[in-house]
Amino acid sequence: MKDIIDVELKTRTADIIKCKTDLLAVGLFSDVKGLDKINAQLNSTLDGAIEKLIQLGDFKAKEGSSAIVYGNESTGAKRILLVGLGDKKKTTLDTIRKAASNAAKKSVDMKIETISLAIHQAFGGRFNLSAMGRATAEGVYFGSYRYDEFVTENENGRADSLKVEVIDSDSIKTRTLNKGLLSGIAIGKAQSYARTIANRPANVISPPELAAAAKKLVRGSKNLSCTVFDENQMAKKGMGGVLAVGSGSENKPRFIILKYTPDSKSAGRLPTIGLVGKAVTFDSGGISIKPAQNMDQMKLDKSGGIAVLATMKALAELKLPINVYGIIPSAENLPSGTSYRPGDIVTTYSGKTVEVQNTDAEGRMILCDGIHYAVEQKCDIVIDIATLTGACMVALGKYMAGLMGNDDKLIKQLQKASKDSGEKVWHMPSGEEYANEMKSKIADLKNIGSKWGGACTAAAFLSQFVGETKWAHMDIAGMDMFSTSNEYTSEGSTGFGVRLLTTYLMNLTSKKS
Ligand code: BES
Ligand code: MN
Ligand code: ZN
Repeated sequence: MKDIIDVELKTRTADIIKCKTDLLAVGLFSDVKGLDKINAQLNSTLDGAIEKLIQLGDFKAKEGSSAIVYGNESTGAKRILLVGLGDKKKTTLDTIRKAASNAAKKSVDMKIETISLAIHQAFGGRFNLSAMGRATAEGVYFGSYRYDEFVTENENGRADSLKVEVIDSDSIKTRTLNKGLLSGIAIGKAQSYARTIANRPANVISPPELAAAAKKLVRGSKNLSCTVFDENQMAKKGMGGVLAVGSGSENKPRFIILKYTPDSKSAGRLPTIGLVGKAVTFDSGGISIKPAQNMDQMKLDKSGGIAVLATMKALAELKLPINVYGIIPSAENLPSGTSYRPGDIVTTYSGKTVEVQNTDAEGRMILCDGIHYAVEQKCDIVIDIATLTGACMVALGKYMAGLMGNDDKLIKQLQKASKDSGEKVWHMPSGEEYANEMKSKIADLKNIGSKWGGACTAAAFLSQFVGETKWAHMDIAGMDMFSTSNEYTSEGSTGFGVRLLTTYLMNLTSKKS
């Protein structure tokens, strides 16, 4: 098995003209007439090549676009990559994140192994330098990622590694950039880790294999611990939801618990957070089997759980002063002679009974046990994340995740984290009307609602397991599945949620970048 591309990132104080590099990336806005200082400097060194490119209409600096100009004997760079930043008025931190992704992706595609980024310089004082350093690092990881562990023959190939330096001619600025860069590296690495585990197919990652990955992750970290319940331990505890979903597969279910305990005592003031992630390693639908088309994509049904796993990794690297549980119920949903069936009544870990009307509504069956476990551990705030419903994709498309919950402040904090991280969410309802649809005549609950509002009824089902605890739910079905490549990234898992959840936790501890 081949290694995923190795990325190395650092900052360096260097002159933009003299800086020796295989590729130098700079940013340009589409609505700004004339070149800014560094681009003007580059342009004159290149005998007006940049201006000509723009005049001829070959480069309009639209977001997502780019153009290459070749260096000459006066430039240290062999190539200059002009990266479009779009409208200056619409700029957010995500503009720089995307621009860095774009540059990194191009470089990997062109097999260029050492690059220098000066994209942040186009933004002047608009954002603080540390935040720009972080966004740049996150972008580089995101854009350079490719899932090709199992590709043994490839015509196009890619660079084996990517060495990136973020340059500025001012050493004070470089130092501030570097602060954020280090956070960005931790987050970017965690997100790439999430993508790799999520992209691995179900014959490679089964619930026990996922548990082994979690155990491996905590090895060597003194702040992280990992406990795994196997099917027997789950049976003793009465985790009927996870057991029911996992009953059809030879690959037995696992209940994975990670715990992060910071060194610092200052965490005492902050709430204990429980992150709960759905990890269905393959969702065939079970006895209520899915159609054949696109069923292969259901290997990504473990993405929520993996986002939690990777967030725990980032947390440990960032050494945030807050107590966090990562709870990952994991099962494989297959049809067989031992599967759970439509009509079955399952007693969940909470004691509530659920009438199964559709075995394909399995995510909520495992999450309710995970959520109850989090509440039992006295988490003050529970956030679950799951590829839960096709209905959420119908509602929101592939651009944002559904966000539901029972606490306005928590919703606002997650919306803020979403803005900061560039991982978009949209607030949706999950209240009483939806909860009413989930009542069963022969048990406490049933696992599907009516034909309509499926994302909301699914969330309303989960809301019944949180009691008085503050809770939020993210339905990421559209975000991690069916994702195709674009200017910023390759196809497959996007690792959605890692940046958002980590940013939420950073904001709580008010660690700036
Ligand atoms: N994992 C799926 C949700 C999903 C579907 C994610 C498509 C990404 C793309 C989930 O387990 C599921 O099958 N949900 C059902 C629920 C229904 C039976 C109430 C769905 O959305 O069809
Ligand atoms: Mn399903
Ligand atoms: Zn599923």
